[in-house]
Amino acid sequence: MEDKRKPSGNILSFYESESPVATEFRRVYSNLRNYLPGQEIKSVLITSPALGEGKSTLASLLSIEIAHRHNKKVILIDCDLRRPNLHHFFALNQEKGLTELLQGKLNLQDCLKPTPLENLKVMTSGQETNTPAELIDTPYLQEVIAEAKLYSNLVIADCAPVIPVSDPLIIGSLMDGAILVLKAGFTQVEVAKRAVEILRNAQVKLLGVIMNNMDEVLPYYYSYKYYGYEYGYSKKRK
Ligand SMILES: Nc1ncnc2c1ncn2[C@@H]1O[C@H](COP(=O)(O)OP(=O)(O)O)[C@@H](O)[C@H]1O
Ligand SMILES: [Mg+2]
Repeated sequence: MEDKRKPSGNILSFYESESPVATEFRRVYSNLRNYLPGQEIKSVLITSPALGEGKSTLASLLSIEIAHRHNKKVILIDCDLRRPNLHHFFALNQEKGLTELLQGKLNLQDCLKPTPLENLKVMTSGQETNTPAELIDTPYLQEVIAEAKLYSNLVIADCAPVIPVSDPLIIGSLMDGAILVLKAGFTQVEVAKRAVEILRNAQVKLLGVIMNNMDEVLPYYYSYKYYGYEYGYSKKRK
């Protein structure tokens, strides 16, 4: 049966550096850089309250934008061991990734997969596992993140949602902060507030919120088309 979550084609083929989408991610990156004046953010967790709100898509596009435009070395890690997806997004083999690394079967360098962007390496989730919580809940994870930081300017962890599982909190405690993805017209306010509270209680610093799906929800006069931003952007992601 076809995997409905499997995007068709490599996500890099959707990326255009002059598109409104890329412009939004430049803004996100600029906010990240300005978040703590004088202190560089070196590791970010991407999470959301629930499933399907666009975490993996946004983690991928943010990584692509930073690696491409800002010439920074980015390591994007698929930390969602329950519903891994980045191997589909980047058309990579799922195996030889985070799972094998945390099991001590491979070292970090063996798990960093090249992409067409020289500055972007992706660590896929690795083999499917029945024990994702135990794998993530290991002191070794701290060493893994620390080592990934040595080889990059920014580590981006695409994680499971924060309400149903605790993995993002464990990973979040090792990162500089978290970005919460909300889906406009879908994520309920109370649910979003609960996600913020969970992150706060676990002392994960909330660096910001990305609202996904905006042009599905905003009235037409807020849309890119209205402002003429569509210029030069032909492949709209729909
Ligand atoms: N802004 C968007 N516009 C259109 N489709 C999107 C957008 N963001 C995500 N999607 C699609 O929605 C689905 C879920 O997104 P995904 O990033 O895998 O969510 P999550 O990682 O939060 O489960 C995927 O099929 C993805 O391609
Ligand atoms: Mg995902």
